[in-house]
Amino acid sequence: MSTRRFFLQSAALCGLLLSAKSRRSSGFDKLTVNRGAATVHPLATQSAARILRSGGNAIDAAISAALVLGVVDGHNSGIGGGCLVLIRRSNGQIHAIDGREMAGLAASEGMFLRGGKADASLSQNGPLACGVPSQIAAIKQMHTLAGRMAWKDLFTDAQKAAFNGVAASKSVARTIASEADELRKYPASSAIYFHTDGTAIREGEPLVQKDLASTLESIALQGSEWFYEGPFASKCAGYLKSIGGILTREDFLAYRSKERTAIRTKYRDHEVIGFPPPSSGGIHIAQMLMMLEPYPIGAWMRSRPEAYYHLLCEVMKRAFADRAYWLGDSDFVDVPQGLLDREYSRNRMANFVDSQSSMQIEHGTPGDSMGRNGALGAPSSAEDLKHTTHLTTADDEGNWVAMTCTVNTSWGCKVTVPGTGVMLNNQMDDFSISPGTPNAFGLVGSQANAVGPGKRPLSSMSPTMVLDATGEPVLTAGAAGGPRIINATLQVLLRVLDGGCSVSEAVACPRVHHQWQPDVLLFEDQFGVGTPWEISPGIQANLSRLGHPLKASGSLAICQAIHRQGDRLTAAHDPRAQGQSLAE
Ligand code: DON
Repeated sequence: MSTRRFFLQSAALCGLLLSAKSRRSSGFDKLTVNRGAATVHPLATQSAARILRSGGNAIDAAISAALVLGVVDGHNSGIGGGCLVLIRRSNGQIHAIDGREMAGLAASEGMFLRGGKADASLSQNGPLACGVPSQIAAIKQMHTLAGRMAWKDLFTDAQKAAFNGVAASKSVARTIASEADELRKYPASSAIYFHTDGTAIREGEPLVQKDLASTLESIALQGSEWFYEGPFASKCAGYLKSIGGILTREDFLAYRSKERTAIRTKYRDHEVIGFPPPSSGGIHIAQMLMMLEPYPIGAWMRSRPEAYYHLLCEVMKRAFADRAYWLGDSDFVDVPQGLLDREYSRNRMANFVDSQSSMQIEHGTPGDSMGRNGALGAPSSAEDLKHTTHLTTADDEGNWVAMTCTVNTSWGCKVTVPGTGVMLNNQMDDFSISPGTPNAFGLVGSQANAVGPGKRPLSSMSPTMVLDATGEPVLTAGAAGGPRIINATLQVLLRVLDGGCSVSEAVACPRVHHQWQPDVLLFEDQFGVGTPWEISPGIQANLSRLGHPLKASGSLAICQAIHRQGDRLTAAHDPRAQGQSLAE
């Protein structure tokens, strides 16, 4: 079934198509009379829709959907992990809420070295791999900032799903099977994901999580303090210590989600709003847009696709070379403001040639005029691979939310805290555990992203919004997929803004990905086949001739988006996953 037809049928099924009468009577700004939601799981999308219908706003809907995803799609995200959230409020204010995990205060640069060598198995699995879980702090901050419904009511759908059980999805079953050896090491993980005879839960079988239901109920009734200051922090720290971990109760007490200053960039006649460090996404999407702006992107997409992909690949290489050198937690390192200088970005393209792939790309040196003295993304004065998830909601008052949630790779560090049902993240692997050692996504980093006590690991999560010339939201997008998130989000923006594609088409279009190292241009050969957007064998041959080392790939990222045209919103979920999008 096509994405578009699925979207229409889903919307109709849920009775979400508003009558013209009810729309007229809403009394809201005529530019933003619609509402919508898109997530990777129908139950999460329907939870968002239920909240929107029962008086909640887009912020409430995003919180409820995120909590449901943590139950029904727990290999991707959950309350044992973190999130980055971009909010555009109906009053026009933009908020970037950093709910990124934090390294414990006992963390150190050498903690993943054994015999002088980096051991990535320790940063990817087991008790040392997790940072302080941060999603609950972030949703608490979202709710305090702009939520409308009662806090406890936002937990109802997630609690029910955990208590009653839901049929394990294909990806839940697949990742339990693929991570079985690690999951089995931890009795509380084993008890949830395996039958008593030791066999893994299969697709369609009920996944019941009574402990998680009770944890959610406690947070619903007793607040985030129950998690960070009370029983959860004690249980988690105690258990981790008993199996060789380092997070303590004090780390939980010290954790704060933070509001950061969003990154704002002009692109043609739009303004693109991105997430600042500890995400790298906002900076590099902005940088790449500035590098791309002089070129006739829309025309090339249609009539010279190899020129389009060649150019994309070249800007990706330059941005990811800068990422590896300059980016880290801006509370600890000065991320140069100059990376966002338009002239700097244009200069990075001085050695671009349209007839050949550039062999030797190095990081740039952002100019003195910008210097390294203006750390990006410090708290504002106002105070690969298929894991992670992006969800998006919009309400009829003009509140929009773009929220990416993650436990990092599938089932995080595989450790479930006994008696809580909470699976912990493995976000420590997003640090550069030693210079030049690639992480789970093949990313390398420098000192800027070294492990440090209380530091947040660099992220690729890229919740993004686009405003039109009048400052109204027109598009939002984001994705799951490690570093591919950055490039996938960029390509969805380009397809809509330059290519004139519908948002569903833009999300479905095949994509490419280059992350500087390794020097490989990945492309999706199984998507868009038979459409004008197919990356055909002819295009592949031309890209090879230009010198790009090509490699066919399955799904490169899973993207959700919402687009407004006039007074109509369209929500789109990625056909690469079994999600759902609704708009009314
Ligand atoms: O924050 C990051 O960049 C990663 N932890 C995201 C992981 C991810 O997207 C995994 N999905 N494939």
